[in-house]
Amino acid sequence: MKHLIDIKDLSVEEIDDLIKTAKDIMANKEKYSEKCKNKILATLFFEPSTRTRLSFESAMLGLGGKVIGFSDAANSSTSKGESVSDTVRTVSCYSDIIAMRHPKEGAPMVVSKTSNVPIINAGDGGHNHPTQTLTDLLTINCEKGRFSDLTIGLCGDLKFGRTVHSLITAMSRYKNVKFVLISPNELKVPDYIKKEVLDKNNIEWCETQDIEEYMDKLDILYMTRVQRERFFNEADYVRLKDYYILNEEKLAKAKKDLKILHPLPRVNEIAKEVDNDPRACYFKQVEYGRYIRMALILKLLEIK
Ligand code: CP
Repeated sequence: MKHLIDIKDLSVEEIDDLIKTAKDIMANKEKYSEKCKNKILATLFFEPSTRTRLSFESAMLGLGGKVIGFSDAANSSTSKGESVSDTVRTVSCYSDIIAMRHPKEGAPMVVSKTSNVPIINAGDGGHNHPTQTLTDLLTINCEKGRFSDLTIGLCGDLKFGRTVHSLITAMSRYKNVKFVLISPNELKVPDYIKKEVLDKNNIEWCETQDIEEYMDKLDILYMTRVQRERFFNEADYVRLKDYYILNEEKLAKAKKDLKILHPLPRVNEIAKEVDNDPRACYFKQVEYGRYIRMALILKLLEIK
């Protein structure tokens, strides 16, 4: 049985297939509207979510399936002391596929060992968020038309931002991709990603604290929020939370065909005025997330 715990669980060819399917779903929604008839998706969210949980639910409903689950662990029997493994094993008796978000890094991987149905990691702590990465990949493919020959600026909380970690891993597999890592000193990309992903794959990368320094070189600017929930110290969060606020002035030297992405939720890091800039793609990105999750559900349930 196939699970999706880490973006590396999918080969480049499998990602190409998912993108092809997602595009076909976008163009032919009716064709897919009963593909998951009699199938049940469970969404087990031990951490808050708007996009990931609801896009999974919307994806399954769009495929003709049904959804069950909880959006707050306090409403589940984990609040009585039940382990997450027992919870997932139980829910796998009621469902065909499970999307799970948990604050502990590695939790989806651990439960996948005993689950009777495919497990999708919908975000584990500050570690990974592979379905956001699939969303980002579909966005990049649709908006730039390619995965190769791209200079990608990643800006904000690159330490705790799990979407950044998964995106670097995914994009490092394509030709001539360069990264500009833009963050305050305290929120740099973890060393293990620099060594085990960037350096190991001979990827060109640089670091800066200045969002404007390489603005004219970027094909994609991926903004992220500072992850308040991962900080041990509120004072540090307050000091860093508005370190970057992207506005039209900061975009003055950017390319005309730059694409601005953000996994959302946004706090202050992109000014509202940028929403009207034709280069802003973050709300389109939300929409792409539904279609790539539809494609993923079909793949993991082995439905043609
Ligand atoms: N991008 C993302 O994971 O958003 P949610 O936290 O709202 O699911």
